Amino acid sequence: MTNIKLSKRLFSIAKMVEQGSTVADVGCDHALLDIYLSQNNIIKKAIACDITEGALQGARKNIKESNVKNVEVRLADGLSKIKDNDNVDTLVISGLGDQKIISILNNEKNKLKNIHTIIVQSNTGIDKVRINVVKLGYFIKDETLVKEKGIIYTVIKFKKGIRKYSSKQMYFGPVLLMNKNELFNELLLNIINKNKKIISSLPNTMVWKKLKLFIKNIKIKKEMSKKTD
Ligand SMILES: C[S@@+](CC[C@H](N)C(=O)[O-])C[C@H]1O[C@@H](n2cnc3c(N)ncnc32)[C@H](O)[C@@H]1O
Repeated sequence: MTNIKLSKRLFSIAKMVEQGSTVADVGCDHALLDIYLSQNNIIKKAIACDITEGALQGARKNIKESNVKNVEVRLADGLSKIKDNDNVDTLVISGLGDQKIISILNNEKNKLKNIHTIIVQSNTGIDKVRINVVKLGYFIKDETLVKEKGIIYTVIKFKKGIRKYSSKQMYFGPVLLMNKNELFNELLLNIINKNKKIISSLPNTMVWKKLKLFIKNIKIKKEMSKKTD
């Protein structure tokens, strides 16, 4: 296998990994991210974990073909196979849903003590992920939006440390609010349109739910028309 070329989404995650990191990639699937990080001399080592043996077979094949020596594969649920002496300092969890990501982190809080960086790309509930990772003692260092095959993904880099956020920052993203761009507005427009669809599909008996979504859309629209925070 020649040098790995990552998708735009995985590349935006790779860009957040710091030089010399020891990475645990939970839910690695194909391990392409880890191989890329190794081939580009970004990491000291990666531990590529997945709960599915089938996924790891693909990962092992890719690692063998690319001949990288510092990517290790482990069959594991979440962080269960990460040990203290692995010296992992950076955790990557991408392509999973918010509930899964939150439970992986909350189930093994003791494994986070040496982890100074968590990079997350959740497919759902990004505000919930922000709230939960901040509760675990991390702050939001960086956020980026990337559009791939018509879907806009949010990638967040957390660093260890305490910082207080408003509910608006948790919903929209503190860094995204500061660097509003076209993708940010497109993402908000997508949310507004999704809410509109839900409003029209709800029966009139659910008037409160309809009203709540209506008010939410007004707040989102307001944010779209404002300049950066
Ligand atoms: C959609 S893939 C994402 C792959 C890669 N991280 C990416 O962003 O392209 C999700 C992977 O997470 C794995 N997975 C799901 N739950 C997991 C868990 N509790 N622990 C480890 N891996 C898990 C699945 O087996 C699957 O390979």
